[in-house]
Amino acid sequence: MKYFMGTLILFVLFSALFAPATSTNRTLSKGLSLSSENPEDVLTSPKGVFSAGFYPVGDNAYCFAIWFASRTSRSQDRTVVWMANRDQPVNGMKSKLSLLRNGNLILTDAGKFTIWETNTVSISSLELHLYDTGNLVLRTLGGESLWESFDFPTDTLLPQQLLTRNTMLVSSRSQSNYSSGFYKLLFVNDNVLCLLYDRANISSPYWPAPWLTREQAKRFVYNSSRIAVLDSYGNFSSSDKFTVSSTDYGKFLHRRLTLDSDGNLRLYSWDEEGEMWVVSWQAWQVPCIIHGVCGANSICSYVPDNGRKCSCLRGYKMINHTDWSQGCEPEFDLSFGKNKFDLMQLSHLEFYGFDYDSYHNYTLAECKQLCLELPECKGFQYSFSLEATHSSCFPKTLLMNGHRWPSFEGSFYLRVPKTNLPNLLSNANLAENIGLNCSSEGPLLLERVYLKNRVNGTVKFMLWFVCGLGGLEIVGIFLVWCILIRTPKSSRADKQGYLLAITGFRKFTYSELKKATKGFTEEIGRGAGGIVYKGVLADNRVAAIKQLYEANQGEEVFLAEVNIIGRINHMNLIEMWGYCAEGKQRLLVSEYMENGSLADNLSSNSLDWKKRFEIALGTAKGLSYLHEECLEWVLHCDVKPENIFLDSNYQPKVADFGLSKLQSRGEANNPNFSRMRGTRGYMAPEWVFNLPITSKVDVYSYGIVVLEMVTGKDAAKGVHDIDSGEQPQHKRLVSWVREKKNGAALTESWLEDIIDPRLKGKYDVQKMETLIGVALQCAEEEKDARPSMREAVEMLLAQENDS
Ligand SMILES: *[C@@H]1O[C@H](CO)[C@@H](O)[C@H](O)[C@H]1NC(C)=O
Ligand SMILES: *[C@@H]1O[C@H](CO)[C@@H](O)[C@H](O)[C@H]1NC(C)=O
Ligand SMILES: *[C@@H]1O[C@H](CO)[C@@H](O)[C@H](O)[C@H]1NC(C)=O
Ligand SMILES: *[C@@H]1O[C@H](CO)[C@@H](O)[C@H](O)[C@H]1NC(C)=O
Ligand SMILES: *[C@@H]1O[C@H](CO)[C@@H](O)[C@H](O)[C@H]1NC(C)=O
Ligand SMILES: *[C@@H]1O[C@H](CO)[C@@H](O)[C@H](O)[C@H]1NC(C)=O
Ligand SMILES: *[C@@H]1O[C@H](CO)[C@@H](O)[C@H](O)[C@H]1NC(C)=O
Ligand SMILES: *[C@@H]1O[C@H](CO)[C@@H](O)[C@H](O)[C@H]1NC(C)=O
Repeated sequence: MKYFMGTLILFVLFSALFAPATSTNRTLSKGLSLSSENPEDVLTSPKGVFSAGFYPVGDNAYCFAIWFASRTSRSQDRTVVWMANRDQPVNGMKSKLSLLRNGNLILTDAGKFTIWETNTVSISSLELHLYDTGNLVLRTLGGESLWESFDFPTDTLLPQQLLTRNTMLVSSRSQSNYSSGFYKLLFVNDNVLCLLYDRANISSPYWPAPWLTREQAKRFVYNSSRIAVLDSYGNFSSSDKFTVSSTDYGKFLHRRLTLDSDGNLRLYSWDEEGEMWVVSWQAWQVPCIIHGVCGANSICSYVPDNGRKCSCLRGYKMINHTDWSQGCEPEFDLSFGKNKFDLMQLSHLEFYGFDYDSYHNYTLAECKQLCLELPECKGFQYSFSLEATHSSCFPKTLLMNGHRWPSFEGSFYLRVPKTNLPNLLSNANLAENIGLNCSSEGPLLLERVYLKNRVNGTVKFMLWFVCGLGGLEIVGIFLVWCILIRTPKSSRADKQGYLLAITGFRKFTYSELKKATKGFTEEIGRGAGGIVYKGVLADNRVAAIKQLYEANQGEEVFLAEVNIIGRINHMNLIEMWGYCAEGKQRLLVSEYMENGSLADNLSSNSLDWKKRFEIALGTAKGLSYLHEECLEWVLHCDVKPENIFLDSNYQPKVADFGLSKLQSRGEANNPNFSRMRGTRGYMAPEWVFNLPITSKVDVYSYGIVVLEMVTGKDAAKGVHDIDSGEQPQHKRLVSWVREKKNGAALTESWLEDIIDPRLKGKYDVQKMETLIGVALQCAEEEKDARPSMREAVEMLLAQENDS
């Protein structure tokens, strides 16, 4: 009896917890309507997952919409998944959605104009029903469907909803404006599912990567069924053989695939505990690859705080200060015939598409000549590929999709009138950065965070009631229920499967790795995280296998971190090949560098000046990528010469990243990040003084590493010819160099005093001064005085271009 009572009370309790708060209307029958004036006029799906009703989109402007209703009832938190009239909102007064007696479902504005209708006709009884899948269906009482919202998607595809040859997803205009935007997901003529920037007379595909052939992009063009579908477990697959599994594949969750207003296609899953949507896959990690972001004649660049920013080309100004998509216009007269033109080089800048044609094996001079003779040519892209040993010249008729990549080894040459050139060149970097205002909305963050629903008063009372009345049994049942509901996590095997789908990264078995390392015999290094062994994998690749010290972290945490590491890919970062998690064993498998670490090479004196500069630059690029261009923001926290490896061309590759706790963007001041990390000698003062840890800790360590490379002295041991008493040793190297530099006015030979004597005076003085300047700036005590890694890269690159 007590159990019965307990169960009954629990039942009541759950009903109170999960019943939709506002409305109980299930269906709309013939002759009835929902009114925009009554907020209670909402259709709710049987389990309360979705609701449909009038959704406010502006001042006295409403759209008939379906939204995800799960427990979050605050209207500003709602996630809209469909809209009937996104481009034509209706008035808040006297607007109605009515199911007419003739079977037509119509939306009328202000009681007068029909602005949307299903054009259905039926004499039998009909009802409009919202399913728990999010599908709004006009059906006969017998269950036959006449019309369904799943056949007319807007920007979101829900599980089980088919994307077909007749449908497409169209992004919203912006995060707050739901009207149709310029990005589309659809099957194009060769049966391939594509993302397209489509505006007026510009149509520019950007996914799959436009520089790949269909075959390279692993898309199949011969299946013309043109169907794509998402399932609740996290698989999205299409008939062109594109398939992707979300990072949380295997769990049965609420999911949605949304073409966001920033042009990125994202798969979201609903995190029940956190009550928010979490991104579990996205088409592009680097936001600037998406076309049309900044409009013509402008450059998109990545900024960590708010995603991306636009800026005009030098000598251009914004057309409309509230709308970047309109781009920039020249401040000078570009009409042909009136002016004599010249070309201005802009390094590491790429514009994609709108080529007049492509010309291979043209010299730079020939390419210049070509562009100056074409009236349409706005400039050209020139790159020289080392592997292919040929150069490419692409004259452009329109400058769209501009993007600055620190790792892009080509240049863009902008056509400008001869008379304006000196002026433009003297303004150098300044002009390009004027007008940084992005569209007022700021780009989308990766996660949309929803406020937690507070437990409301009734529920609180019920809880007390249960406790008071039920005694131990009830609490017991409640606990059992909690355990039953909460424990089923995804199966491990499923979880690991997805990694393979996203990158070439894979899971190894312990026995495979034991065999590869011949029983963990050849130890090549030992660090904070674990011991590194050399091994040869079954496919004959030589690998560095790091065995992490046991019980570092649970499997969940390990998998989460490994998942992020596996997605990181940059020429100046060690490539990760896989991992192993079995029992208490945690191993990471990465490429092996024959040339050893920077520390080895510095001590054996095998690095001349040129190599040292290249290593400083490459390391900065790698760290900059880690900080800025990855999906997650990764701090390294242990930058030192032992963690920088050199490939056969003495290009640096940073290792051991991602082992530090990973921080998501916006959590930079996370106070939980308290355990000290890093290596004495390279640690930023923030660690010591318990200040917030940001990417600037890596900048500091980088500064120290560069000073070591320049001086040949070991930061951890300190500098012997100066005695600064109480200061920690690592400061000695920095302050020693700084004092020498500041004393430069007095002694001409300050460079000679500090520079590694093993270089025998063979170095470029100007470059050396820049490098030391950058290193000192990086090693500033005050974190805000240090540049970002990207700024450091730019300073070093500027030096390289000038010489
Ligand atoms: C919906 O429910 C509300 C209150 O429960 C009621 O006033 C209203 O008439 C219902 N609307 C329809 C169309 O059934
Ligand atoms: C949304 O954008 C469209 C197109 O620019 C514009 O016509 C409309 O007024 C905007 N709506 C709102 C609510 O700002
Ligand atoms: C698009 O049309 C506008 C005017 O309608 C024109 O100025 C512009 O050059 C066109 N762009 C392309 C790429 O054809
Ligand atoms: C999901 O996708 C993976 C490959 O990406 C495939 O092996 C698996 O069978 C798919 N699962 C379902 C339920 O379609
Ligand atoms: C084409 O793709 C569809 C959907 O993925 C699949 O069911 C069908 O078997 C494929 N057809 C052929 C001939 O492969
Ligand atoms: C700038 O764009 C906005 C929105 O697209 C528009 O309302 C406004 O009139 C434009 N301003 C000018 C000066 O063209
Ligand atoms: C360019 O020149 C290289 C070497 O001379 C040659 O191998 C290559 O095929 C040429 N490429 C083209 C596109 O002509
Ligand atoms: C940027 O926006 C701010 C306010 O949003 C405004 O004061 C400033 O003038 C804008 N700058 C430019 C260059 O448009």
